[in-house]
Amino acid sequence: MSRLVVISNRVALPNQTQTGGLASAMDAALKELGGLWFGWSGNLASETGAEVHEVTKGRIAYATIDMSKSDYEAYYSGFANRALWPLFHYRGDLVDYQRDHLEGYLRVNRLFAEQVAKLIQKDDIVWVHDYHLIPLAGMLRELGVTNRIGFFLHTPLPAAGLLITLPRHRELFEPLSAYDLVGVHTHRDLRALEDYFLHELGAAMQTGGRIRAASGRVFRAGVFPISIDTDDVIALAEKAQDSGAVGRLKASLDDRQLIIGVDRLDYSKGLPERFDGFARLLRDHKTLRGHVSLLQIAPPSRSDVPEYRLLRRTLERSAGHINGQYAEPDWVPIRYVNKSFAHTVLAGYYRTAKVGLVTPLRDGMNLVAKEYVACQDRDDPGVLVLSRFAGAAQELDAALFVNPADIDEVSGALAQALAMPLKERQRRHRAMMHALEANTITTWRTAFLDALRHKEAMRPVVA
Ligand code: UDP
Ligand code: G6P
Repeated sequence: MSRLVVISNRVALPNQTQTGGLASAMDAALKELGGLWFGWSGNLASETGAEVHEVTKGRIAYATIDMSKSDYEAYYSGFANRALWPLFHYRGDLVDYQRDHLEGYLRVNRLFAEQVAKLIQKDDIVWVHDYHLIPLAGMLRELGVTNRIGFFLHTPLPAAGLLITLPRHRELFEPLSAYDLVGVHTHRDLRALEDYFLHELGAAMQTGGRIRAASGRVFRAGVFPISIDTDDVIALAEKAQDSGAVGRLKASLDDRQLIIGVDRLDYSKGLPERFDGFARLLRDHKTLRGHVSLLQIAPPSRSDVPEYRLLRRTLERSAGHINGQYAEPDWVPIRYVNKSFAHTVLAGYYRTAKVGLVTPLRDGMNLVAKEYVACQDRDDPGVLVLSRFAGAAQELDAALFVNPADIDEVSGALAQALAMPLKERQRRHRAMMHALEANTITTWRTAFLDALRHKEAMRPVVA
């Protein structure tokens, strides 16, 4: 079988805690299959890609490059995270397009292409990930790489009407046709991609998910909802029950109920609205005061981007305000924690919480929602309150759905979740576990790679 070469900006290097869905998922996806994982080391140096650092652990060989500060600022903090990330999360108001950021983005993609091209062997199958590396296949093709190359977008893809607001959008998105297969999480994302190619780039739809670009090149696009290693996550949660960290959390709760949120500190996650929704619960349900706490784990992310720094200040003010208003000497409503935790600890925290509160304004998938469900005790499971705008809503359809912008709806769903009878909790949990058993990280990886390897029409993962 051919070797798999995965290319992404963020790499889950051994012995590092990463707090993003891409790193979590690819780590799980590659562990069993093995392969080469190429990307950014996470370190800065005087020059981008001067040398390739190689380490091997288990079946995965990691090859990473450092980045210069100016490339990091233009490519990562600039174009990727101040133009593409807000655009793809429907936040046109936050897009800060700067021509030199786009130039830096293209420059770093070319440097990635030049370094990784040297490592790609004849029969390798190449899988590029996420919005940092959209033009990579086109650049690899220019360097003579003829291997099969797939692309998976881990974020949502907004409607064409929003995509075209990005200056030079054609130059950026047309090279997607250099891939053999482009994967997205949901049907909505796929419709956006097809609509954009058809109406903005003059492409034509063919059968079997094929798109014929104006250049004549034919590529395919399909829906592949990412997932978790369900059995592994269940096992982690069972094991974590006996850990000291979980014991200490339980002791500190003293029989009070716990609501948990776990998110990178990102404006797409709807955290200010979530705090407001929880405050509304305390305002409207006096009997819950003193009896329920929200544990919000929010490790800082992309702190060089001004919007992320502003969000952090907003949340500090909000948590302080809500706690000041409702706290008692022996009870604090919001436990707000700005650090990251390993999966082994998170699994136990999820299981301890009666409610998983996942309310992104937009999210590609949201693995936290899936992890929360898989970590529950099936005899006495907690309840997932989930934003309609997370990709996970497509599969986890027995969650309590909310529009995260409607804080009364969030408050109502929390009250319903906290009071939900055991039978209903079990029924909803069983339905969601069914989805997580049917679609695991292995299903996702296999479906994508099968479709990339073979030319026949794709089998849809979810109807
Ligand atoms: N995560 C973690 N430690 C933390 C916070 C998050 O390991 O302290 C993990 C979390 O378990 C999940 C991933 O980071 O696997 C977040 O993925 P998700 O799809 O929910 O959101 P993203 O960060 O990719 O937007
Ligand atoms: C999301 C993105 C990933 C990214 C992760 C963490 O999941 O889709 O590409 O790796 O967030 O963000 P960071 O900027 O730290 O890599």
